[in-house]
Amino acid sequence: MKILVTGGLGFIGSHTVVELQNEGFEVVVIDNLSNSSEDVLKGIEAITGKKPLFEKLDLREKSAVQDFFKKHADVNGVIHFAASKAVGESVGNPLLYYENNINALVYILQELEKKQEANFIFSSSCTVYGQAETMPINEDSAVQPAMSPYGNTKQIGEEIITDVAKVSGINAILLRYFNPIGAHPSVEIGELPIGVPQNLVPFITQTGIGLRKELMVYGNDYPTPDGTCIRDYIHVVDLAKAHVVALQRLLNKKNQDKVETFNLGTGVGSSVLEVINAFEKVSGQKLAYQIVDRREGDVTLAYADTTKANEVLGWKTQSTLEQAMESAWKWEQKIRS
Ligand code: UD1
Repeated sequence: MKILVTGGLGFIGSHTVVELQNEGFEVVVIDNLSNSSEDVLKGIEAITGKKPLFEKLDLREKSAVQDFFKKHADVNGVIHFAASKAVGESVGNPLLYYENNINALVYILQELEKKQEANFIFSSSCTVYGQAETMPINEDSAVQPAMSPYGNTKQIGEEIITDVAKVSGINAILLRYFNPIGAHPSVEIGELPIGVPQNLVPFITQTGIGLRKELMVYGNDYPTPDGTCIRDYIHVVDLAKAHVVALQRLLNKKNQDKVETFNLGTGVGSSVLEVINAFEKVSGQKLAYQIVDRREGDVTLAYADTTKANEVLGWKTQSTLEQAMESAWKWEQKIRS
């Protein structure tokens, strides 16, 4: 079975390539290296003993996408990670996000639509729920108006896939991730943020290693037990494994609808201060931080109802927050040594 993984050298993509190869799939990676490095291939090879096929390609080039599918007509499934993901950047440069996240999706679907049958897995985000009214968030929670062009591309992407699946041989699974963190336990692959990290955990580990002076905690006046925001932090290896399970569901025709949606989280909400505590525990050092104003656009609470993923998809997270933080910390130490 040959699987195309777009964005396969990125954070979640690379961990998924490892899990696919561990399960015996042949993987071909597309990546334009805009936010990743070819060295990631070596990390994947060190873990699995095998380098995936790699095509450096920009999915915004329609003819390149067409040529790819001519060359690899035998692809049995596509896992589509390739996308831009910085919320702030998307506000400043919306067309970059619409071009990269929407045009690329359309070009891939145009090729899959030509096939009698195709299996497609889409990287979506819990951001589609905005501030959900009830916790935990299940898949029937309302999709709220997007708060950024980035968030909008995830919503529009889901809609495009749903529309196309109705009139084609495409079956799809939309995976709505909560907050992926951590690194592979081998420390051969992990997160490689370019510039100043916007996400909490890489900022914490970079502060711990001395690359940043201190963490700014965005607000401690939220209506939560300790006043800081609550999120559902999921180990990236657990998340990667969910993609393999979802793909097998499509390949084995176990899906109940042409398009299915699953929330991928642990079901446990952790506050910013709890994440800091977990870091201090696994690293054995205090973290420098100060409380500052709230960050615009942050929701107070977001954690997943995992019932559907557990019972229908048949997948569950295995790692705790501390294990995920420990792997993130080991990775940070390795890449700075
Ligand atoms: C962010 C995006 C979300 C996207 C997700 C993907 C925003 C508003 N949301 O989610 O759309 O799907 O990343 O990775 O950007 N925090 C600090 N200090 C920091 C960084 C973060 O206190 O330096 C806090 C935030 O206020 C938040 C929590 O840590 O409460 C997690 O932040 P982050 O890692 O950016 O994730 P999200 O905001 O959940």
